[in-house]
Amino acid sequence: MSIRISRFMLGVLLLSILAACGGATATTAPGGSGTTGGATTSGEPIPLGIALAQTGNVALLGQEQVIGAKLAETYFNSKGGINGRPIKLIFQDTAGDEAGAINAFQTLINQDKVVGIVGPTLSQQAFSADPIAEQAKVPVLGPSNTAKGIPQIGDYIARVSAPVAVVAPNALQAALEINPNIKKVAVLYAQNDAFSKSETGTFQNTVTQTLKLELATVQEFQTTDTDFTTQATNVINVNPDLVIISGLAADGGNLVKQLRELGYSGLIVGGNGLNTANIFPVCQKFCDGIIIAQAYSFAQENDVNKAFRDAYKAEQKKEPPQFSGQAFAGVQVFVEALIALDSKTKLDTLSLEQIREQLNTQILAGKYNTPLGEISFDPEGEIIQSKYYVAQIKMDETGTNGTFNFIR
Ligand code: ALA
Repeated sequence: MSIRISRFMLGVLLLSILAACGGATATTAPGGSGTTGGATTSGEPIPLGIALAQTGNVALLGQEQVIGAKLAETYFNSKGGINGRPIKLIFQDTAGDEAGAINAFQTLINQDKVVGIVGPTLSQQAFSADPIAEQAKVPVLGPSNTAKGIPQIGDYIARVSAPVAVVAPNALQAALEINPNIKKVAVLYAQNDAFSKSETGTFQNTVTQTLKLELATVQEFQTTDTDFTTQATNVINVNPDLVIISGLAADGGNLVKQLRELGYSGLIVGGNGLNTANIFPVCQKFCDGIIIAQAYSFAQENDVNKAFRDAYKAEQKKEPPQFSGQAFAGVQVFVEALIALDSKTKLDTLSLEQIREQLNTQILAGKYNTPLGEISFDPEGEIIQSKYYVAQIKMDETGTNGTFNFIR
């Protein structure tokens, strides 16, 4: 029996071999730490939007998110992407304000034609930009938006960043373990920032209702402030045992510095906006001792966190922080939901509108084993996550380098 191969079949065969070997349209992501697959992807990349603060003060947080998202892209493409097609992250800088986030969302949705968006960095931005994605029926995963009310913005809005209500109180418990004699508390918050207002509500409630401590003063500032003499003086005048700050990295770091310079020597709890090593150049040696609750621990034991941690350490020469871990998880949820959707209905048989709509349903239906541990979502898009931690900053003698030491 003879086998006849037509020119057409030969062409198909050659193309398949080329694709399998990583031909013209193929992208082969590096194997990272060597623990990943080294699989090959080919075909049209699937565009996922990343709208984060890459410039300005909020980039102190956003830079860590960009690193986490890029590591996820490399990792999941090395595992074969979306059933063989690569995922391609499209970055749009939101900077630190609402207008920047709105612009980034509009560009990603209308011009870059993304299937979904991971972003923005701030809750303050999410309350303005998320409604645009909701209107366009584009799924959004907030990677760091922790204010109350984010998933309730709409059906297409979910988050991988656990809310202040479940994360922040852990830091106060840790402070009381360090100093059981805390009686009097001073609170400061950025009154022009939605997350800071939400977080201080949780902190103040925990202080007065749960812990029955005295709330001696509440001081307000702006995220754009650089001089905190008035607020710091008012705090020191009530002689508190604990100071709690809800702000962002630049203002929060400066506030810590000025409180210490004016003589405050008690414990300081910083909120989620201070949760970055990028505050070290701001408060320098005065960052030492700040207690911050964490929604991620680099010690999380699962394969994906091991791969993420190894890749992060190889690149950044330190342990991965929360903002990077959450951004990685955001990309991961999109990738795994796309894989599940594609396995049911091939993505190239669906319109972009159909993909966005079905992807949103799939995201909320899934369970994901991420660097944050196993996570899922409630029907509104709120993250369901089981473990939280607390770290305390330890600065070295030079006051330039520090580490987040886990204490809980
Ligand atoms: N967790 C901060 C926010 O929600 C960054 O804005």
